[in-house]
Amino acid sequence: MLLELNDVTVSYGQTPVLFGVNMAVDRGDIACILGRNGVGKTTLLRSVIGLNKAISGNIIFDLQNITRLPIFKRARSGIAYIPQGREIIPYLSVLDNLKLGLSAGKKKSSKIPHEIFEFFPMLKQHLNRQGGLLSGGQQQQLAIARGLMSDPKIMLLDEPTEGIQPSIVQEIEDTLKRINREKGITLIVVEQKVDFVRQLAQKFFIMEKGVVVAEGATPALTDDLVHKYLAV
Ligand SMILES: Nc1ncnc2c1ncn2[C@@H]1O[C@H](COP(=O)(O)OP(=O)(O)OP(=O)(O)O)[C@@H](O)[C@H]1O
Ligand SMILES: [Mg+2]
Repeated sequence: MLLELNDVTVSYGQTPVLFGVNMAVDRGDIACILGRNGVGKTTLLRSVIGLNKAISGNIIFDLQNITRLPIFKRARSGIAYIPQGREIIPYLSVLDNLKLGLSAGKKKSSKIPHEIFEFFPMLKQHLNRQGGLLSGGQQQQLAIARGLMSDPKIMLLDEPTEGIQPSIVQEIEDTLKRINREKGITLIVVEQKVDFVRQLAQKFFIMEKGVVVAEGATPALTDDLVHKYLAV
């Protein structure tokens, strides 16, 4: 296992939001997390990178107990977090947005590795543009590229296709598969689009009200499950 959550509980103030989450993801996997709005998907990813602290339970990453580690040490140990809404700095150039990703990793170099432009050729044409001037899909690609800059072992992506036009969704799916296959990076993707999950993931987890209620290999993501836990 590369990442394991054992009985992880997280609260906002006095309000519990995750109630003992259990989840295990193998090295090299692409795992998707599904669930209706507000069930705790974002909170789960935030608890892995350390933006939310687990009040009980354990998070084991790459054989190390990271439950109490600060965010920067988790990032340095190989976790990249690509937040919901992308969080590109609008007034910084594409290049400077990319460089922000370097500081999260171990490397001291300030060069953009060539492979970034192999995965995202579009970025090369827009290096000096302000991040805020890119389209939604381009900003998402920039956010993924920024995550890749730290040379992570795992990437946590929160709804990378939210509000993005279908042609770019396909491009993002293809690029994520390449990143997984060519770099061996494990991916955990929070996603609401079931079709996207079926094409991308090997494993799925469904959350409801702060716990994982169903999981399995992607072929087990049946229409019954979708209807029960995901249909509105
Ligand atoms: N900063 C916060 N303070 C208090 N409560 C919060 C905070 N952020 C989220 N919550 C609550 O925690 C619960 C889980 O929220 P979370 O954002 O993790 O859900 P989600 O599954 O990612 O939802 P969505 O599909 O809308 O992105 C919700 O009830 C939400 O209202
Ligand atoms: Mg969310």
